[in-house]
Amino acid sequence: MTSRQSGAPDTSAKITSDTVRADFNDPVAVVHYTRAAHKLGLWESERICIERFFPDKNARLLEGGCGAGRVTLGLWKLGYRRITAFDFADELVGQARDLAARRGAAGITIHHADATRLGEHPAFAAHLSAAPPAAPSAPPVPPFDGALFMFNGLMQIPGRENRLAALAHLRALCRPGAPLLITTHDRDATVFERALWIPEAERWAAGNQDPRLVEYGDRYFEDQHGRTFMHLPNRAEILADLAATGWAHRYDALRREIARESRAVRDFSDECRFWHAVAA
Ligand SMILES: C[S@@+](CC[C@H](N)C(=O)[O-])C[C@H]1O[C@@H](n2cnc3c(N)ncnc32)[C@H](O)[C@@H]1O
Repeated sequence: MTSRQSGAPDTSAKITSDTVRADFNDPVAVVHYTRAAHKLGLWESERICIERFFPDKNARLLEGGCGAGRVTLGLWKLGYRRITAFDFADELVGQARDLAARRGAAGITIHHADATRLGEHPAFAAHLSAAPPAAPSAPPVPPFDGALFMFNGLMQIPGRENRLAALAHLRALCRPGAPLLITTHDRDATVFERALWIPEAERWAAGNQDPRLVEYGDRYFEDQHGRTFMHLPNRAEILADLAATGWAHRYDALRREIARESRAVRDFSDECRFWHAVAA
């Protein structure tokens, strides 16, 4: 009998999107993200970047990994009225829809969808289908004028090929010139962080890394807010992935270079890098 058959958790199985979805559907995580959506709202750095890079309040925006709607409702409060958001954790989608209804945000549509498989969702399929149209016709007009994937959500997708798929789907859904805003960690951001990664690089070189991790740069940890999978890229990786998926890099900066955040925001989230690109 294997450890899984005996009911004990498998401590060596690779992390998959199912692992991440289950972690976000866990009641501890749902309470954490729902509280932030209700009480915290946008970080100051998010507000500055959104208003700078999405100047048109009438733009049709697509927000990936919306969670319980913290950024979604923040966009609504800033005056954006044509918002489509999605998340693959159904418990969080339920919370986001509930919050949108409470705030009278009728212009927000929230889908239950996986960023790496958007072509399987009826709302996006027509724009992402690989199949040629049955009869010759003009390709459908991309339905969005801009896309966001905030608070490092894109980096919670295990496997670089899957993160690339998500970025490519967002690109295919946006018109040329559309802005993209994402955040990630940056494992090279400081001398201190670079030093912390040296022993991890040695573990990978020797094959002694946590067997659940998919790639170097991955972390999987547990704290009072639940279990978290996170890929921590370096700057070169994100520049390459944007270019490979049709996004032209325009700007990136660490959060502390953009704004000084409140204590509440710093308690909720640590340092990250903001990335702005446009659909090439
Ligand atoms: C750190 S949370 C951020 C939630 C919300 N945007 C916020 O800032 O409070 C990351 C979100 O990304 C979602 N996510 C991760 N992988 C996803 C995927 N493949 N497709 C859709 N959503 C995903 C998670 O379910 C989670 O809600």
